[in-house]
Amino acid sequence: PKVAILVSGRGSNMQSLVRAAGDGYEVVVVASDRPEAAGLAWAREQGIPTFALSPKGIGKAAYEAALDAALRAAGAEYIALAGYMRLLSDRFVADWRGRIVNIHPSLLPKYKGLDTHARAIEAGDAEAGCSVHVVTEELDGGAVLGQANVPILPGDDAETLASRVLEAEHQLYPRVLKEWLAR
Ligand code: GRF
Repeated sequence: PKVAILVSGRGSNMQSLVRAAGDGYEVVVVASDRPEAAGLAWAREQGIPTFALSPKGIGKAAYEAALDAALRAAGAEYIALAGYMRLLSDRFVADWRGRIVNIHPSLLPKYKGLDTHARAIEAGDAEAGCSVHVVTEELDGGAVLGQANVPILPGDDAETLASRVLEAEHQLYPRVLKEWLAR
């Protein structure tokens, strides 16, 4: 299957998806709502087709229409969100129903939204982790496809915990994406 990856920033999960591609899926385009995203530059260097467009100035509907057209032109059949920080509209989600996945840095259904690591530490949790899930209209709300757990250690702050979880994300996302596409 042909997969588009959407990023807004660093793109380390996108990199792990690209590195694991070849057997199980093909990455046909990396797209971003932030033309200056570091992840885009990396993808370009790898020779992967990229698409960059900011919704600023044109509005969400026009932005999403152009994004949709670019993904379809690239032949994308699935979309993997990888640190994509914008909420997709109900319309966009409906047009790609059941074909968008995301990685979220918490053990869903715990800690949807932002600041997941600080919230897990604040709650006194013994474990944190990450989840790959299907994207629906509800933020971080679709079916969970796979999770990885990591311990929260004494002395952890949001940053140290985030980097431990991020390593687990890089292992989890390609594996779960492949399993899900092969289902
Ligand atoms: C990751 O922690 C991901 O779970 C979250 O945003 C972060 C993106 O990091 N949705 P990167 O851009 O993949 O490096």
